[in-house]
Amino acid sequence: MARILLVISGGIAAYKMLEVIRRLRERGHETPVVMTDAATRFVTPLSVGALSNAPVLTDLFDLDREREIGHIRLARSADLVLVAPASADLLSRMAAGQADDLATATLLATGAPVLAAPAMNPHMWAHPATARNVARLAADGVRFIGPEAGEMAERGEAGVGRLAEPAAILAAIDAALAPAAPGPLAGRHAVVTSGPTHEPIDPVRYIANRSSGRQGHAIAAALAAAGARVTLVSGPVTIPAPAGVDLVAVESARDMLAAVEAALPADIAVMAAAVADFRVDAAPHKMKKTDGPPVLTLTENPDILATVSASSARPRLVVGFAAETQNVVAYARDKLARKGCDWIVANDVSADVFGGTENTVHLVSEDRVEDWPRLSKEEVGTRLVARIAETIGARGD
Ligand code: C5P
Repeated sequence: MARILLVISGGIAAYKMLEVIRRLRERGHETPVVMTDAATRFVTPLSVGALSNAPVLTDLFDLDREREIGHIRLARSADLVLVAPASADLLSRMAAGQADDLATATLLATGAPVLAAPAMNPHMWAHPATARNVARLAADGVRFIGPEAGEMAERGEAGVGRLAEPAAILAAIDAALAPAAPGPLAGRHAVVTSGPTHEPIDPVRYIANRSSGRQGHAIAAALAAAGARVTLVSGPVTIPAPAGVDLVAVESARDMLAAVEAALPADIAVMAAAVADFRVDAAPHKMKKTDGPPVLTLTENPDILATVSASSARPRLVVGFAAETQNVVAYARDKLARKGCDWIVANDVSADVFGGTENTVHLVSEDRVEDWPRLSKEEVGTRLVARIAETIGARGD
């Protein structure tokens, strides 16, 4: 049961809304109504109100009504707004963001999904101005049902412009109210590493690399969009964490390993960070220039990818990256074996990949190599996650 706010604008087809209201009420929905001035010339607020059994508002400046319910509250409390029939004039005012009557003010104030069922003369529907308005509204997230082709009220006129049939409008309402399908990785947990690591030299200095974190963050975003719970363990980067992921911000490789191990168990691990191979035996105090050039003693860092692959809590799918400038696929094969991971995303970094927005990669597994075209890092993320979803699927699969 939902609260469906109906916005009725002027048009011969307005009477069909009586049928739609009746059907919505039968299904147990609440149906408050806003009518434009023009709509009241085609169907009376009295008959609409008798069927809707809910407030019918027509005037932005009706103080009594405003005190009773308030158009903003009405707009905000709706689960869905149905604009039907949506006249050319109303679509134009909606597209412009006007709020000069109760219908447009309500539409501007609502946060609910909006479904519009246009109805107008075929010439008006075909006019580029209407097409422009519809395109703009669609870009704003308004969904459309119809119009349909057929005879028009005007004698001898036929074409596209008829209000969708009530049954089609009701089906569109059902679709709009249905909860979004769970993503293909719903119920899965993914750990992603991203960005560079900073290896301290002394309290104020560190060794780093040019990784921007863009690729790892794009993968984390794509995993979250596919419904996975994502723990993003990121070294220092300037880009924001994608919405909907749990960020663990770290600095050094050892911090990163600790954070990844703390995040396990997981179903999926994607290790996209550019982890420093070596750390420095850091000086406890700031080094002084007057002491002369320091000698940095380097120690090998733990390999996070290899550690996760060998872990007793090994995720089902472990994906590593390989940045190479030559023999990209051959080196990737070798890395697959050495690190014990399932896939390697091998990228050719001879071009401007580090810090750039695009990537040319090969997806290398034990038994196959896929060569992907040059893609944006977002698209690499989306494709990789599509492959992951094919392999892993949602929980319970
Ligand atoms: O050996 P190489 O650094 O080329 O391997 C790259 C892959 O290994 C990447 O997936 C990277 O995130 C991971 N890696 C790691 N820990 C390290 C070094 C690399 O997880 N210490």
